[in-house]
Amino acid sequence: MTEKITGKTVVQTVGLTKVYGAGHTAVRAVDDVQLDVREGELVLIMGPSGSGKTTLLSMLGGLLRPTSGQIFISGMEITSMNESGLPDIRARKIGFIFQAFNLLSSLTVQENVLYPSTLIPPGEAKPAKERASELLSRLGIHQRKHYLPRDLSGGEKQRVAIARSLINEPKLILADEPTGNLDSKTGFEVMMILHDIARDEGRTVVIVTHDPRLEDVADRILWLEDGKLRDRKEETHSWVRDPVCGMKVDQWTATFFATHQDVRHFFCTQRCLDRFQERPDAYVVPAEGS
Ligand SMILES: Nc1ncnc2c1ncn2[C@@H]1O[C@H](COP(=O)(O)OP(=O)(O)OP(=O)(O)O)[C@@H](O)[C@H]1O
Ligand SMILES: [Mg+2]
Repeated sequence: MTEKITGKTVVQTVGLTKVYGAGHTAVRAVDDVQLDVREGELVLIMGPSGSGKTTLLSMLGGLLRPTSGQIFISGMEITSMNESGLPDIRARKIGFIFQAFNLLSSLTVQENVLYPSTLIPPGEAKPAKERASELLSRLGIHQRKHYLPRDLSGGEKQRVAIARSLINEPKLILADEPTGNLDSKTGFEVMMILHDIARDEGRTVVIVTHDPRLEDVADRILWLEDGKLRDRKEETHSWVRDPVCGMKVDQWTATFFATHQDVRHFFCTQRCLDRFQERPDAYVVPAEGS
């Protein structure tokens, strides 16, 4: 398996603070946050309702101005930019995914996916239409490309939103409760897509969530409480990687496992175990001499 986390910092904040209102009714929604997220990292921001998660994510995406502090995206300070420079940075460098999908209701699936590409001049890279077509195929919604959002299921809508977030090939994906409106099976699928985006493409993914299932695919979990950020304490687990999907699995409590060439492997679900048993050599390096 390839590990794509590099030493390069994609998101950095220094003393990031947001205060809503003034005087005795002021709310310190985000309070002096220092954050450093590297290329290829999948980071979760968790915490109670009202703890400042959406406020923090909106500032990272340049959608909301901080009261004080700095934000650097790929080394570029976005906090000192004027209002006219921000839309371009957002369109090129950042992909957004929201709980409510936020698709444009009068545009088709394909038009929604293409929309962010219309906000920047065409680059030297592949034409946007070709990229959209590849993304729709990869996310399994190619047959729906002429549908309107109202004719899609929740899971399909979120796949469209993910394709849209990737159309300009941004280094950074920000997602606010991406599985919040989805049933458990669909939420799991969306979680695996986000995981693959970080692992296979080396993009940085920052997800705000209440969903404990997402913990399994995170490289790091941060906890926000009363606007303050801290690393969540490590618990007593013995983590190994599922060789099929790459998810972290606790080998002390895993219920799906198989022995292949005298090595025991652990899996997140029956589905991954089944896939492994069909073609184990596709997932492990064969032992020498075999
Ligand atoms: N536009 C606003 N004006 C005033 N106060 C706000 C505004 N937006 C958020 N707040 C307050 O700031 C605090 C943090 O809100 P935020 O929406 O960032 O929390 P959250 O962690 O995303 O919550 P949830 O988990 O419920 O989505 C809350 O006390 C909220 O009431
Ligand atoms: Mg929120």
